Amino acid sequence: MNGMDGASGTEAAQDMDAMDRAASDSTASDSTAKERGADETGGRSGPKRLAGRAALVTGAARGIGKAVAARLAAEGARVTACDVQGDLLAAAVAEIGAYGEIEGRVVDVADHAAVAELLAAHGGPYDVLVNNAAIAPRIALDELRPDDLREVLRVNVEAAVFLSREAGRAMRAAGRGSIVNVASVNALRGQPDMLHYNASKAALVSATQTLAVEYAGDGVRVNAVCPGSTWTEIWEEGGWGEEDRARFTGRIPLRRFARPDEIAAVVAFLAGNDASYVTGHALVVDGGLTVGM
Ligand SMILES: NC(=O)c1ccc[n+]([C@@H]2O[C@H](COP(=O)([O-])OP(=O)(O)OC[C@H]3O[C@@H](n4cnc5c(N)ncnc54)[C@H](O)[C@@H]3O)[C@@H](O)[C@H]2O)c1
Repeated sequence: MNGMDGASGTEAAQDMDAMDRAASDSTASDSTAKERGADETGGRSGPKRLAGRAALVTGAARGIGKAVAARLAAEGARVTACDVQGDLLAAAVAEIGAYGEIEGRVVDVADHAAVAELLAAHGGPYDVLVNNAAIAPRIALDELRPDDLREVLRVNVEAAVFLSREAGRAMRAAGRGSIVNVASVNALRGQPDMLHYNASKAALVSATQTLAVEYAGDGVRVNAVCPGSTWTEIWEEGGWGEEDRARFTGRIPLRRFARPDEIAAVVAFLAGNDASYVTGHALVVDGGLTVGM
């Protein structure tokens, strides 16, 4: 078995070299496009580094997951986007479908039977799996009930672990694949009112390390990305407002929240061959938040 993601043999390696050269050649025009704001949902005019790959992205109806689905589709992947919010997912799929190959599936990732059905319907292996779906209710420690903690662990950890294992079987059999778990800087630091969420993301980083070691021999890489503050609906639904946003912004050395497409770009890097020697890593993307004083 070989360790290349979604490609095998010398020919594919040469193809990837050519794509890498094309990617570096396009750096100047990409950054100009970014300044114009033409790049918001994922580098549509960039290189097709994921051409021929099949990718599954969870929680893709909005926010970071939608940006990841957009980015992977823009890079040439055939994307399966899943979410529990059907209407929002349909809108996201329609938007991304204008420039990439994408299908939407309404699936609760914590429902093991539904996930098994999703994987069976796909048939062959996914080359890329992005475990992005999560919940993040704001609950003061004194109010936290065992059921609250269980529910957050069920969606944020259990679902990602079993989806990685089940999708991982076909990846391992094929000898290739890349799994990216969307964790958080909250895995590394303690944020008040968020113990349940922080613990879930720390568990996801730990699961990432173990899966990476378990799957490395079969050519499957497993990494995590740890985003910092990224303003999406998850904040508003969690009960955080503009005051909180200003307070958090003040602590970020880059002095702004991330845009979802900035997280998606790093996920795409970990998903593809540019990260062919990266496994078991938790890549922090936080504008300097966790290294500041
Ligand atoms: N926004 C941030 O500041 C931030 C920071 C660090 C990490 N993250 C992580 O990034 C990821 C995306 O966050 P976001 O800010 O885009 O959140 P979001 O709430 O905007 O998006 C999450 C999506 O997941 C879906 N989802 C939730 N439970 C699901 C389930 N059981 N099955 C299928 N889909 C489900 C939701 O419907 C939603 O569309 C999450 O893992 C989150 O923990 C976010």
